[in-house]
Amino acid sequence: MNYSITAHNANFIPPVQKPNPAFLKEIGEQGIRDLLRRLYICLDTSPIRSIFPPEDTQGMMEASQISADFFIQICGGPDYFNQNRGMPQMRGRHAPFAITAEARLHWLTCFEEALKPLEGNISEDNLQSFWNYINIFSIMMINTQG
Ligand code: HEM
Repeated sequence: MNYSITAHNANFIPPVQKPNPAFLKEIGEQGIRDLLRRLYICLDTSPIRSIFPPEDTQGMMEASQISADFFIQICGGPDYFNQNRGMPQMRGRHAPFAITAEARLHWLTCFEEALKPLEGNISEDNLQSFWNYINIFSIMMINTQG
């Protein structure tokens, strides 16, 4: 696996490709829910914890499942996020939170930690296509300098 992180360049946003739907077929909806739970467990004790509104770990776990709805949908599954929250409009939804290039690195580091247990169980191509998606898409969530 290549968990490389594309440097943020405010003048150029590389094209985004959605994850291969075969990733969802392999991992299953519960697998995505578990993945997002691992992400938020890591974020809960990360240096960027303060930008997340939930007050406690329980709140973070609930937030993780809203995000899981989104990731199931973007991987070609049912549109749970649209049904529960409306159109994704991710940039707008992230606008209230100060996301710096450094915050993105912490977020991706937690995602790498959450993905690692899947190595060996999920085909490398599918795992890579998921990483490539979050690597690029996360650039667009940066909304604050510094
Ligand atoms: C660049 C690093 C990122 C940071 C620091 C970040 C941070 C946050 C924060 C603070 C929230 C609000 C609290 C919550 O509900 O969890 C949030 C929500 C969310 N984020 Fe991110 N995010 C990042 C990137 C992304 C990316 C790349 C995606 C999707 C590909 C994403 C998907 C979501 C979703 C689906 C929600 C829930 C929105 C809702 O509640 O309606 N985030 N994120």
